[in-house]
Amino acid sequence: MKTNPLMEKIVSLCKRRGFVFPGSELYGGIAGMWDYGPLGVELRNNIRDLWWKTFVHERDDIFGLDSAILMKKEVWEATGHTKEFSDPIVEDIITKKRYRADSLLEDNGIENADGMPAEEMTEYIKKKGIKSPEGNPLSEVRTFNLMFKTTVGASGGEGSVSYLRPETAQGIFVNYKNIIDTLYPSIPFGVAQVGKAFRNEISPRDFIFRLREMEQMEIEYFIREKKWEESFEHWRKETKNFFETVGLPSDMLYEHEIPEEGRAHYSKRTIDFEFQYPFGRKELSGLAYRTDYDLGKHREFSGMALEYTDKHTGEKFTPHVIEPSFGVERLVLAVLVSAYREDEMDGESRTYLCFKPKLAPVRVAVFPLLKNKPELVKKAKEIHLALKTDIGRVWFDDNGNIGKRYRRQDEIGTPFCITVDFDTLEDNTVTVRERDSGKQKRVSVAELSPYLSEYFV
Ligand code: GAP
Repeated sequence: MKTNPLMEKIVSLCKRRGFVFPGSELYGGIAGMWDYGPLGVELRNNIRDLWWKTFVHERDDIFGLDSAILMKKEVWEATGHTKEFSDPIVEDIITKKRYRADSLLEDNGIENADGMPAEEMTEYIKKKGIKSPEGNPLSEVRTFNLMFKTTVGASGGEGSVSYLRPETAQGIFVNYKNIIDTLYPSIPFGVAQVGKAFRNEISPRDFIFRLREMEQMEIEYFIREKKWEESFEHWRKETKNFFETVGLPSDMLYEHEIPEEGRAHYSKRTIDFEFQYPFGRKELSGLAYRTDYDLGKHREFSGMALEYTDKHTGEKFTPHVIEPSFGVERLVLAVLVSAYREDEMDGESRTYLCFKPKLAPVRVAVFPLLKNKPELVKKAKEIHLALKTDIGRVWFDDNGNIGKRYRRQDEIGTPFCITVDFDTLEDNTVTVRERDSGKQKRVSVAELSPYLSEYFV
């Protein structure tokens, strides 16, 4: 496997400081699964909460939903996932190891292999003499369904088959009727959902980039067909704005218009928003025009009326859909990559994560200057407690010297450190030190909470 120095540093920091741990590590790990540690879960929740605030709470036209992960298999038969939700797979004839064929082709210099028909890939493999990474001959390319199959209930048998959802979107489509029957929304309107999705990826890779268990944040935005281009543009801008809000630099972001042969079976137009990850420019999120494909299929298979009735004119029609879809882990990784910095401060090298303050897992750290002075510790604990109530995630740290404490907080991206010293006991002021510049200023204890709160709204 190719190594990448920046990725190695990020993966190691994530493990060392409790952002992300390998899944089932005690038993040797399991490919494509990672666990969020105490800091990772805060970072992820902050990103997720910001997404929800931006797209649900701050808008009047989008409603939230949380549907079950397991749904009846008919849902996936109706949408074509049981037949079409697959990737091309190829096998090393000697070792029997399996690879994703398009990735293998791309690793061998064949551009745009994504979406290429299996027969064409087989042709390429033969024509160019492409071998497995072990140097062995390869089988023909075939397709491999990515859905995890399971059974529900004790009876077993074909009737009890279900699938872990490969996208959160279908939970929205199967609840579309419930939403219009309970809220009577005016079109256009959207339904947003955040939740786990599962794909039995052939080659999970690149840390938390390609996973078998992941989390998605998706919106299905229901529109009149004639408005699709306008709405697509709207969501294109909203997506870019959101990337700016979480601190992704615009020169690391790209839009990739997906040609027809590369698009999912339901999409009439797709843009992939790509990010310059250390291992290459790769898909971060997607924007698709799903037409009326999903509602049409569910109407056909369930026999239920899924039209929308215009409140004013009585006109009935099946809405079309624009879908902005974000992968939480890909966003977490893009935020980590964008925030990672190395520099020199006070004659020492340091690593820090320059997160936007509201994304930082720890917002403020409070230190007593000396651990063995009870009056300093007492005062620092009082400030810690008061700030926790006002600001949220505030940590207390009295381990090691102040320089070491600063470095520890820099490395996890804490934007502010507060030191309680002997002057504090005299004049009730503390030192507030800012992460990126290292600049320090005295702030009165009474002013601390309003001064800091401004950074977290
Ligand atoms: N509902 C549409 C849909 O699921 P997709 O392009 O297959 O479209 C949407 O997935 C997003 O989900 C991607 O842009 C990516 O951010 C994330 N994603 C998809 N597969 C993933 C995987 N195996 N690991 C991590 N994230 C993934």
